[in-house]
Amino acid sequence: MIQSLRGMNDIFSPENDKFTYFLDNALAIAKRYGYEYFESPILEETALFKRSVGNSSDIVGKEMYQFIDKGNNDVCLRPEGTAGVVRAFIQKKLDKAGGKHKFFYYGPMFRYERPQKGRLRQFHQFGCESFGEDSVYEDANIILMIKEILDFFNVDFNLELNSLGCPNCMPAYKKDLIGFIEAKEDLICNDCTRRLKINPIRVLDCKNETCQKEYSDAPKLLEQLCGQCHNDFIKLKSILDENQISYNINSHLVRGLDYYSKTAFEFLSNNLGAQNAIAGGGRYDKLVEFLDGKATPAIGFAIGIERFIDLIEIPEMEKNGYYFGAMIDEAIDIVFNLGIQKRKNEKTTIEYKKRSFKAHIKLANKAQAKYCILIGEDELKNNTVWFKDLENKEEKNIEIEEFLSNKKDKLC
Ligand code: HAM
Repeated sequence: MIQSLRGMNDIFSPENDKFTYFLDNALAIAKRYGYEYFESPILEETALFKRSVGNSSDIVGKEMYQFIDKGNNDVCLRPEGTAGVVRAFIQKKLDKAGGKHKFFYYGPMFRYERPQKGRLRQFHQFGCESFGEDSVYEDANIILMIKEILDFFNVDFNLELNSLGCPNCMPAYKKDLIGFIEAKEDLICNDCTRRLKINPIRVLDCKNETCQKEYSDAPKLLEQLCGQCHNDFIKLKSILDENQISYNINSHLVRGLDYYSKTAFEFLSNNLGAQNAIAGGGRYDKLVEFLDGKATPAIGFAIGIERFIDLIEIPEMEKNGYYFGAMIDEAIDIVFNLGIQKRKNEKTTIEYKKRSFKAHIKLANKAQAKYCILIGEDELKNNTVWFKDLENKEEKNIEIEEFLSNKKDKLC
């Protein structure tokens, strides 16, 4: 029997309802914050991710679903959403047009990681990207928005916050950090030795415990930020304080992607086990320029949908709509036609097979219908339907004509 690939799941009952419940409400919040829908192709040129996510990242270094297609193009399945949005932003010349642009997206991402609880090879993200706004109020706004989404679904979180500085302060810090780490080169893991050469700050979030111990007294970028980055970080913290959003400053939070500058954040959950990041994001003011666009400040985030829906409950669904069923073969056509008509305005389930009264009631309840409409021998003879309100248990026979003429049935 052919099975799905390791780390690639079907979205199936009961997660399917949670998945759409999450999207319906997260999208509504994003629209309220002024974001519009965007979709980029799942397949992109490999070079896009190499240049944006970066060669020092695990994503590019180890996890890409990369192949040569039949036209000899080096392509890969997108491991994340930001690079595609930025590519499209430049391709559509929105960088040259200037102004502010906000996009949300959702869809599958692919990373060839070792699958475990909360870590998939195909997973889904809901993300938002805001272009053209360099004010730190936008950083706060993005964090407020994620908090609003989390609060809507009653998801508890810890917010980890850092600033990764800018080209004014980062080079001097990098030099200090390289000096500090080179003195420990014999003690650190091979990954860190590799990262030290490509992007030294990435060593700070190495998962290896020995490395972490060695880096505990590493120089802190937060203590070396330039005036602008320092003031922005102070302002961001004060806006979060005013809005009662607690956070933990984590000077080792560098994120697994190379494009960040200034604000970087992660929302973590205590209820997910080892893979505890629900959402992550930050500023990437240099990325548009780096991908050959006109310099444009930008900030965004993505939520991992599978991890997120693991933390939420759907409120009990209210019964609504109609269930139609026949108790004799001769009534199937009429039941079908009545169902089609009701479906123009109401959620409707039509059962095509003749069944007993009891079996129909069971199916109607399973379909979460509020009203059950059945036709048996007597109803067919009298041109009526048997009508039951499954919530208040009221029931009666009504003439078909009257039943159809009632926009909202009086019984309801
Ligand atoms: P990221 O931190 O790599 O950021 O991913 C965002 C979220 O996707 C994570 O917090 C996690 O919930 C989920 N996620 C990541 N990998 C997996 C996996 N293998 N299985 C299940 N869930 C996973 C980004 O992707 C950036 N593009 C976010 C961003 C947008 N930054 C700026 N704009």
